[in-house]
Amino acid sequence: MQKIKINLGPKTYDIEIEAGILEKVGSKIKSFISAEKVAIITDTNVDSIYGEILENSLKKENYIVERIVFPAGEQSKNLQVLEKIYARLSDFGLTRSDLIITLGGGVTGDLGGFAAASFLRGVDFIQVPTSLLAQIDSSVGGKVAVDLPSGKNLVGHFYQPKAVYIDPELLRTLPEKYLHDGFAEAIKYSCIRDLDLFKKFEKMDTDDDIINSAEEIIFRCCSIKGKIVENDELDKGERMVLNFGHTIGHAVEKYYGFDKYTHGEGVGIGMIRMTDTTERLNITEKGTTERIEKLLKKFNLPTSVQMDSSEIHKIIKMDKKKSGSKITIIVLKKIGQGELIKIDFKDIGQYII
Ligand code: GLY
Repeated sequence: MQKIKINLGPKTYDIEIEAGILEKVGSKIKSFISAEKVAIITDTNVDSIYGEILENSLKKENYIVERIVFPAGEQSKNLQVLEKIYARLSDFGLTRSDLIITLGGGVTGDLGGFAAASFLRGVDFIQVPTSLLAQIDSSVGGKVAVDLPSGKNLVGHFYQPKAVYIDPELLRTLPEKYLHDGFAEAIKYSCIRDLDLFKKFEKMDTDDDIINSAEEIIFRCCSIKGKIVENDELDKGERMVLNFGHTIGHAVEKYYGFDKYTHGEGVGIGMIRMTDTTERLNITEKGTTERIEKLLKKFNLPTSVQMDSSEIHKIIKMDKKKSGSKITIIVLKKIGQGELIKIDFKDIGQYII
């Protein structure tokens, strides 16, 4: 079992990582959650495998439980599905002293977390992430949101959970594509802050290697993210380093309609395209791109895409990461050392080629 404290003053919470923790969620929360009712928000895929296990663990501790299940997929992360969730929470009679638990991947954490942040002006919630991407990234740090037709995550909040319970065993049922999706994000963490973890990844060859080291990978990535969030909860400075590979990656995802490339695949492509350029500009240590590319390829992750840089610039121009005429880009000095560079948007063509 591994525990990480995220120190955010009155919003401080623990992340607990333990095989089998899903069955213990009820007993874990009993000591500090005085709710009578608990609404579990989850999607159809996750509910069919894990919904009942979580519900039983809560009922054993005498909570009154309701499972609210929405159709799996990013297309559910919208205001229409959110409205249906609000209606279900009202019908269940959830009050401000009750609890919401999100059980699922990034979509569930974002959508269910935003429901928790906004229903009755805020209800306590707990994240139980089930995908590798959610376990190492989206369940930690309090970003919750829904998409608008004009873009992803455009309506949201910073709303910290009361706890995050991570069960690495759940990764055994995760489809290979999504294991790799999360692994690309883990590679990103190692690139920006943890050379030693990157070297460990270089020694891995198979999906079993990832699963067998999952507890350590999750612990190290969450520790990195936790420290960054403690310094910059509201994403105004250091937290932006987590977006290494994301500016280009997001443009790639969007250009291909969000269904050709997963988030992690986009990030992998973004890390390579950015680092290839910054290496030529002598910002990044020579040989860095080759090492990252070799690692991504070993796990069947794409490293390039046929997309003209002008198309990437067009999408980045509308990105919410842009601030006035400036944009912050994230580059590597070397593996383990990511840095922010603030540039005029008009100079973007020098960095994203
Ligand atoms: N996923 C990036 C962040 O939470 O800031």
